[in-house]
Amino acid sequence: MRLKIIGSAAGGGFPQWNCNYRLSRAARTGMAGVHSRTQSSIAASADGAGWVLFNASPDIRQQIAQTPELQPAHDAPLRSTPIRAVVLTNADVDHVAGLLSLRERQPFAIYATTQVLATLEANSIFNVLDPALVPRRTLPPAKELMIRDADGRDTGVTVESFSVPGKIALYLEERSQPDANFSSDSGDTIGVRIAGAGSSSSVFYIPGCARIDATLRTRLADAACLLFDGTVYTDDEMVTAGVGQKTGSRMGHLAMSGDAGSIAGLADVKIGRRVFVHINNSNPVLDENSAEHEAVKAAGWEIARDGMEMEF
Ligand code: MLT
Ligand code: MN
Repeated sequence: MRLKIIGSAAGGGFPQWNCNYRLSRAARTGMAGVHSRTQSSIAASADGAGWVLFNASPDIRQQIAQTPELQPAHDAPLRSTPIRAVVLTNADVDHVAGLLSLRERQPFAIYATTQVLATLEANSIFNVLDPALVPRRTLPPAKELMIRDADGRDTGVTVESFSVPGKIALYLEERSQPDANFSSDSGDTIGVRIAGAGSSSSVFYIPGCARIDATLRTRLADAACLLFDGTVYTDDEMVTAGVGQKTGSRMGHLAMSGDAGSIAGLADVKIGRRVFVHINNSNPVLDENSAEHEAVKAAGWEIARDGMEMEF
């Protein structure tokens, strides 16, 4: 199975359109060791011809433009795509808005939890994807499922989904109760184990996670590879940087650093390769010359870049 990280930034991307923080500025000026990144998405293929996207980011048009594997093959029909299906890990804007760019009467399948499908259903703009051409299918929890294209043909990519501690999408929060608890453990946010039919190893993709508990640690033991929520380095970094009021935990994201962070929480779990994805434009690890970048690498983690490719 081939896997490509086509977007390694969190919502907003890097640089973010309206951000004037030092990191976005450095990315804009092309500072050495600071690389621009598009928003959160990966692609997997069992045969190198058909691809399954995991999340459809608002940058999908750019991502397809910079990924030849996702473009129509030169001998393909006049309208065609190698994208067979899109699996959604939550209903956040950075993970679903790209669906709107996949209109133009092109068949593919959408897979998501009942909650996420209900959100698509409740927002009629997603009807630009005619359900007769783009079936919406429920991802059942804790069951390995063959991902199929719109016509029901196997893609060769299998997915097992599981709830992770997270939060409902920002736009679903009740504005009248800004201090309410919007956390969710029941399928608003999921992680997925991705495998290729016939391959013995699998990859875990968890771009949003609020907490590492015993269930998750057990699940991840012996994984060949983990692509994990790397939104923030410290919980309060957006506040201290002066770019926002929210902490990572308020947004449903566990920090990389600290005793309760992901690096410490997974340090003794046997994982072949560990890679941070969904990196926010406030995260100092985006600067390869930073002490934080060094510390993350010293702890055995990689920091995803757009275009990063792996094979399993
Ligand atoms: C998140 O990951 O917390 C969301 O993508 C934030 C957002 O909707 O901008
Ligand atoms: Mn996000």
